[in-house]
Parts: sequence; C-alpha cells; structure tokens
Amino acid sequence: MHNANLYEYANMLQKRDTANVLKEFAPKLQWNPQELILDIGCGSGDVTSGLLVPAIPKGVTKGFNVVGVDVSNDMVDHARDKYGERNVSFCQMDISHEIPPRKMTRRFSKVFSFYCLHWVKDQGIALHNIHRLLEYNGEAVLVFLAKNPLFQVYRKMSRKTEWAQYMTDVEKFVPCHQDHTDPATSFSMELDTLGFQVISCEARTMKFQFNNANQLVAALKAVNPFLSRIQRELQGKFMIDILQELKNLRTPGMDHGQPEANYTLMVAHFKKPQINSPEMQ
Ligand SMILES: C[S@@+](CC[C@H](N)C(=O)[O-])C[C@H]1O[C@@H](n2cnc3c(N)ncnc32)[C@H](O)[C@@H]1O
Repeated sequence: MHNANLYEYANMLQKRDTANVLKEFAPKLQWNPQELILDIGCGSGDVTSGLLVPAIPKGVTKGFNVVGVDVSNDMVDHARDKYGERNVSFCQMDISHEIPPRKMTRRFSKVFSFYCLHWVKDQGIALHNIHRLLEYNGEAVLVFLAKNPLFQVYRKMSRKTEWAQYMTDVEKFVPCHQDHTDPATSFSMELDTLGFQVISCEARTMKFQFNNANQLVAALKAVNPFLSRIQRELQGKFMIDILQELKNLRTPGMDHGQPEANYTLMVAHFKKPQINSPEMQ
C-alpha cells in the first residue's frame, strides 16, 4: 500500500480504533518530563499528527519529539510534506528486517504502532527491533489485526483462475495470527520470551459499520496489496468479486447498504524492564 491520499481518505476504521486505544492507554503510561516517541508504520502521517501527538499529556514539560517511520517512501514523503513539524518528523524504516547499527542512533522512551504489524509476517524480527529501539523502562503499545474474514476472502480469490496469477504470494499478506485459536496468549508468550514485561495483551472482538458501500470499497482498495498488479480495466471486476465473497461470508449489512466489518484486534501494552529489576528475576 503506497497510495497515501487514498489511505488518508479511507482510514476511518483505523482512526476510530486508534483514537479509542489512545484514550484508554495514554493515562496508563508512565510519562517522563521529556519523551522521544516512535510510531511504527505511520502511513500517511495523519494518525501520528492528529491522534498520537494530541494524546501526549501536558505533563511532558520538557517537550517531546515524535518520529513516524514507514517502509514506504511514498507514505513517508506524504507524511513529511503534510505533517512534518519541528518536533514531528518522518523517515523510512522497515521494521521487518534487522535494523543496521548505523540507523540505531537513539533509543525511544515510547513505541507505538497502529495497524501496521499484521503486514509483517515474521513478527519475531519486528519485536526484536522494538526491543533494541526501546530504552530501559520504555513502554510500547501495539495495535494490529489479529484476524479478519477479509483474509479468508483473499485466500479464496487466490484460488480462482481469473485472479490466481496476481495472488501467488497471498500468504505473505495473511496475518500470522489469522489461524490461531488464542492469538493473545501466543503473542503475549512471544513478548515474554523476548524479555518484555507484558502489562496487558488482548485479542478484542471488534465491529465497525461503514456509512455506505462506497466507504467500504474505498477502505478495501486503500489496503489491498494486489489491486495495483491488476490491469486497470479489470480492477473494478476484482473489487466486485471481493464484495461478493464478503457477502458469501454473511458479512452483516452488505444487503442494506451499511456493511459491517467484524475483526479481531490485538492490543498489547508492554515494557522493556531494567536489567536486574525485580520484574526480571
Ligand atoms: C494500514 S497503514 C496504517 C497507518 C497508520 N498507522 C494508521 O493507523 O492509519 C499500515 C502502514 O504500515 C506500513 N508498513 C507495512 N509493513 C511495514 C514494515 N515492514 N515496516 C514499516 N512499515 C510498514 C505500510 O507501508 C502502511 O503505511
């Protein structure tokens, strides 16, 4: 996904969830007088600037710096042009690959990531990077899709003769928790194994009602990794087929024009404990 304008126009579901998570978690975090904050997978930058920055409490008296990073240069350019400020910057980083030491020049007191980590198949490397990026006693709040029927649809579409050629790598885009019965326990154990202190980790059942079918189509297009591979004249047909498959899965509201998304959202809050702290013993 590289189309920042489309994503920014169509990310109402992601914004609703991120706003709620920030409202819930900002009062629970241990804020320091000065904060260096990382937002992994910042996308178009509107969430970083419009939701994350305003959630930083006034008690951060000596100021803060927020750095939004994204694997996509197009997203980073858009975010920088539109939302870059003296203390809000954006740069390219791929969290799914080991970050070279030359890029590890500073450690962050808080790490956030909203709706990004389901794009990362090997979350072990991403979590290892987050461990390196956080300072001791630093905290992280991660929000990402654990499961979504949409990925079932992708799998089904990839078996159809018409679309198979564009979707040979479909599994790359299915979140690693999609087939797990208890994703929160397995993610929590992974965090624990890496040396984090898990404060809370939940796989929440979520619902979002779109105002109309066009809103759903825009939201689906904005995050579809296959669409740009398909000839322009076939893209409409591809989207209609996705809508039909969602209907086949009995997605509520598809018939009366206010479709509903039902999905499972991982919401994890954890800390990198100080070595030799009681939590590590
Ligand atoms: C759905 S958008 C979320 C954007 C924003 N955080 C929000 O909540 O609206 C997911 C973003 O994660 C980025 N992303 C995917 N894989 C990534 C990776 N390996 N490293 C960094 N960013 C990644 C994508 O480029 C995309 O901009």
